[in-house]
Amino acid sequence: MAETTPRSAAATTRARNAAREEIIEMLKADHKKVKKAFKDFEKLEGDDEAREQIVRQTCAELTLHAELEEQCFYGPAREALKEEDMVDEAEVEHASAKWLIEQLQSMSADDEKFAATFTVLGEYINHHVKEEEKEMFPSLERSKVDWEAVLQEMTQRRQELAQELGLAEEEGEDEEMQALQPPPASRGSRSRAASASRGR
Ligand SMILES: [Fe+2]
Ligand SMILES: [Fe+2]
Repeated sequence: MAETTPRSAAATTRARNAAREEIIEMLKADHKKVKKAFKDFEKLEGDDEAREQIVRQTCAELTLHAELEEQCFYGPAREALKEEDMVDEAEVEHASAKWLIEQLQSMSADDEKFAATFTVLGEYINHHVKEEEKEMFPSLERSKVDWEAVLQEMTQRRQELAQELGLAEEEGEDEEMQALQPPPASRGSRSRAASASRGR
């Protein structure tokens, strides 16, 4: 039987580091997207339909992200980190966020606490994301985990979760989010608006 050429230890380390970076980039891209959605929500005051849509979409995206981290990422992170507290705290934060998501799923924009609930969810998420990006992710740098296997599992699980949560059409989804944005003001109209406000 033909033997496969064993990879050198250095090559394995390089491949694992690259996979870990790819995982972190994927998670950071999710963070960036939801953080933008929370900002967009603030700008949509008075537009109940658009607000409901952004809440639905963001709750689904957060659910996918949280499940992906819990099912595929926090386990290896726990293995890699000396301070397991970091993962324990992240899991508790996920549980709190999920509770708020559940509340939001049974609310509509005319509920008294709709905007407040989404705003508080945004504050939780901002705090949680800061801890992951500033503490957890950097602490994983010299870990011995097989990140290549983790990346493969995450890529597959992500597709399955996207199907389950109705988020499979990534491009369509982006267009949907963009449809919620006011059209970018042309240079001319922006300067007209600026001079109008200056004239006030
Ligand atoms: Fe995250
Ligand atoms: Fe998380």
